[in-house]
Amino acid sequence: MTRSIFSDYKIGNLTLDNRIVMAPMTRGFADNETGEVNYLVADYYGKRARYGAGLIITEGIAINELAKGTYGIPGMFTHRQALSWQKVTREVHQYKTRIFAQLWHVGRVSHQEILNGHAPVAPSPIAAIGKVHRLRNPFPTPRALMNTEIYQIIDDYRDAARNAMEAGFDGVEIHAAHGYLIDQFISEKTNQRQDEFGGSLQNRLRFLDLIIKEVKKVVPKNRISIRISEKKDDDTDYVWEYPEEMVCAITGILAKHQLKILHPSVENYGDTLQNEPRSLHALFRQYWNETLIAVGNIAPDKGSNIIEENQADLIAFGQLFISNPDLVVRLKADQVIFPYKVKDQLTCLN
Ligand SMILES: Cc1cc2nc3c(=O)[nH]c(=O)nc-3n(C[C@H](O)[C@H](O)[C@H](O)COP(=O)(O)O)c2cc1C
Repeated sequence: MTRSIFSDYKIGNLTLDNRIVMAPMTRGFADNETGEVNYLVADYYGKRARYGAGLIITEGIAINELAKGTYGIPGMFTHRQALSWQKVTREVHQYKTRIFAQLWHVGRVSHQEILNGHAPVAPSPIAAIGKVHRLRNPFPTPRALMNTEIYQIIDDYRDAARNAMEAGFDGVEIHAAHGYLIDQFISEKTNQRQDEFGGSLQNRLRFLDLIIKEVKKVVPKNRISIRISEKKDDDTDYVWEYPEEMVCAITGILAKHQLKILHPSVENYGDTLQNEPRSLHALFRQYWNETLIAVGNIAPDKGSNIIEENQADLIAFGQLFISNPDLVVRLKADQVIFPYKVKDQLTCLN
């Protein structure tokens, strides 16, 4: 059978109606005090499901009180927050679309004003680069986590994952990309710890490793996606010195845990890396035979080629899903696809 973006896809006992994924996108429309989402958020995701998205990965969802990096970020650490997400999962499931909750902790990329007076936390006391989103203050120096606190956060990931499954999600995505907490542990630039979480690459990956180990206790292993990137949202010049070593080490951990879904994040799919003649996806494909999600400014007419040529198994679109809630219908009918404008992000939840 020919592979196409419109053909169904199986990951173990999880079947997707097609290979089109809505990429995770923070929208800031949760109640800032409670971290709960309302019926407008259910309608927003529901619309993408009604028009046929195969899989939706939600915006980043905070796993505890200190996990938020801006205003209006939803949470998954209280019973009421999880209950509020039930509206979303019910709405989406009506249309047979699958939905994963993206579990997020921003670590140092935050500010006391966002965290009710608490300092942001990180592996080491090294400030993020640039200014806090929406506040425009410089990022403060974060408080280095005590060893015992790290184990508590690992448990928080598990508890948030359990809450997500109880709220009706089909799976979770662990956000280990873009310079947020897990990535801060992975990168030697932001991790100067002397304990078992710092030093060698193996030690720096231990936080991710232990999070996966805990999350697997509450989510089946074929329903856990890992998002990884070289790129950091705050430190835009950062690149991996040895990309192949990183890719081998990361895929090694995923294979050890028998995970099935990897979601590498780049701005432009296919761009070669600075220290490697291949693209991030091509490099991951070499070491990863399970489900690979392609993403990054993919032109609507290019998704099918990527699937047909077996470069990846699923195609994620981000911004085009904001400007075209009915993106899948438009792709199928070869209709006009509206470009994304930043105002779409800031003003409308449609
Ligand atoms: C408004 C907006 C919010 C985003 N929020 C997140 C997020 O919460 N988690 C994440 O992993 N990526 C996030 N991203 C990155 C997207 O998932 C995606 O990788 C990126 O937009 C590239 O895909 P695209 O060119 O199809 O939009 C966000 C992107 C945008 C535009």
